Amino acid sequence: VIEVVVSGAAGRLGSRIAALLRAEGDLSLAAEILSSTRDLSAIAPGRVLIEAATKAAAIEHAARASEVRAPIVVATTGFDPKERASLERHASVVPVLIAPNLSLGVAVLTDLVATASRALEEYDLEIVELHHNRKKDAPSGTAWALARAASAARGGDAEKDAILARAGDVGVRGKREVGIQAVRGGDIVGEHTVYLIGSTERIELVHRAQSRDAFAKGAVAAARFMGASVRKPGLYTMRHVLGLDPV
Ligand SMILES: NC(=O)c1ccc[n+]([C@@H]2O[C@H](COP(=O)([O-])OP(=O)(O)OC[C@H]3O[C@@H](n4cnc5c(N)ncnc54)[C@H](OP(=O)(O)O)[C@@H]3O)[C@@H](O)[C@H]2O)c1
Repeated sequence: VIEVVVSGAAGRLGSRIAALLRAEGDLSLAAEILSSTRDLSAIAPGRVLIEAATKAAAIEHAARASEVRAPIVVATTGFDPKERASLERHASVVPVLIAPNLSLGVAVLTDLVATASRALEEYDLEIVELHHNRKKDAPSGTAWALARAASAARGGDAEKDAILARAGDVGVRGKREVGIQAVRGGDIVGEHTVYLIGSTERIELVHRAQSRDAFAKGAVAAARFMGASVRKPGLYTMRHVLGLDPV
């Protein structure tokens, strides 16, 4: 049985991950880390850590996991490139899976977006994401991941080409721009639309999460994948979990 520690287990996502883990036979919920938890000894050798709390918690807990050689699944989003690099550094010591979106559908959407972006290189790329009104980061980690996949497929760099807001005298649209817009309201679990807009037609690739369990299920699959005794230190994504990328 693979022992799993859930950080942020009282939160919207973490509580669903914990609930699903309780129903698994080959995985067990070994410990829950809450915002009040001071003692991190539950993060122990061989156990898989799932981070579903805050950025600061993820960075602190990942350091502990790396120290004790526990595989890490990071579901938390909103890291800047420096913070992300600090998490990725642990991959030289332990398996690290960074999943800005844990859903199976989004992993497939990313593939479709890359294919469309490569084939329709002249089409303008725009991404719109919608989330509930309590989400703290914008644009979403998933929107960024889609932007990276779309840009990389045509030889660009989303970090440089992303336009996160347009207001005032912004001039005509740059050819390489990848526009990303965030809408916030109510209880929307998560929606992403990638537009490829040409002069005579456009494609809209849409993913809609219907329940937070779309992510919680992915977290369980990720924990099973990361806890396998064959798993070597390195950087993994949901694409590896789904077999879309070779391990
Ligand atoms: N990858 C994905 O597919 C995916 C899907 C959904 C959400 N997310 C991300 O997951 C994160 C959590 O989202 P959420 O909607 O579940 O937020 P949430 O409901 O606010 O839950 C976060 C939880 O973390 C707790 N927490 C804060 N500091 C902590 C610490 N040091 N140790 C342990 N727990 C701590 C909070 O407790 P207090 O309330 O007591 O502070 C809260 O219960 C966000 O970054 C979100 O973007 C990712």
